[in-house]
Amino acid sequence: MKIFDLKKELNAFTNELRKKDRTIGLVPTMGALHTGHISLVKKALSENDLVVVSIFVNPTQFDKKDDLDKYPRTFEKDIELLRQVSDHIVVFAPTVDEIYGGDVTSESYEFDGLDKVMEGEFRTGHFDGVGTIVELLLRTVAPDKAYFGEKDFQQLQIIRKMAEIKKLPFQIIGCPIEREPHGLAMSSRNERLSKNTREQAGFIHTTLQTAQADFGTKSVLSIADWVKSEFEQHPLFDLEYFEIADENTLTPALKIQDNQKYRAFIAVYADGVRLIDNLRLN
Ligand code: PAJ
Repeated sequence: MKIFDLKKELNAFTNELRKKDRTIGLVPTMGALHTGHISLVKKALSENDLVVVSIFVNPTQFDKKDDLDKYPRTFEKDIELLRQVSDHIVVFAPTVDEIYGGDVTSESYEFDGLDKVMEGEFRTGHFDGVGTIVELLLRTVAPDKAYFGEKDFQQLQIIRKMAEIKKLPFQIIGCPIEREPHGLAMSSRNERLSKNTREQAGFIHTTLQTAQADFGTKSVLSIADWVKSEFEQHPLFDLEYFEIADENTLTPALKIQDNQKYRAFIAVYADGVRLIDNLRLN
């Protein structure tokens, strides 16, 4: 398996492939790979001749230094996992210096308000950091298609917006959320939960499922109140936000309109770890 750590070399490699009319998929990750990431890689492999998986813990998208420091780094294991999946994968694993030089800051984007709610409200500067690294990866690899999980649905919509605003001619593909058997959305952060908390964390998904079942019969406000009270009563989980929002604009749903798609979004703290999830409601 080829592993590149320099933009220039990766770019030269993908340029050569393009001359031979090979299609390229890109799967950006921060490593600590799990079945959720691998589902993106497999989808990309099924639609392209070659897949570039980037592994880079991007400092500019972390608003808390502690979260960045504690982010799991399992590079050797990640490579082994990818090796088992296919020979048609190349890895891009740059250093922070290679990406940012001496200036570890992000560009300021105008995402039409998509970055002002939910994750954007609670994690200042997060989406500028995501935009900066994803734009750089897209421009370096110039893939036919790039793959992102609905696990980070707001991120997916923001990346779509960035591609539109910056006129990047790459298709952005959204992929479904992979879950642990009891419903917890797979995440690199789950590794930091205690065994007991992890076992009970299916609670987050089952709460969203009840919200989904009630959507359309109960008001948005009463669903939100019910979710809040469920979390207030739970000893392990602290609710940061619960929001029912329009899928496209991500604005909070006040009045439900028949022709719009809505999703429930949630962020929860457990064992000091921040977990997010979402579920389509209609
Ligand atoms: P990371 O959290 O490593 O996730 C990489 C990709 O995997 C993202 O598109 C994410 O939505 C997807 N993913 C994670 N868990 C998933 C799950 N359970 N099911 C389906 N897809 C899942 O998201 C990032 O990294 C970064 O912000 C990045 C886009 C790489 C920019 O740094």
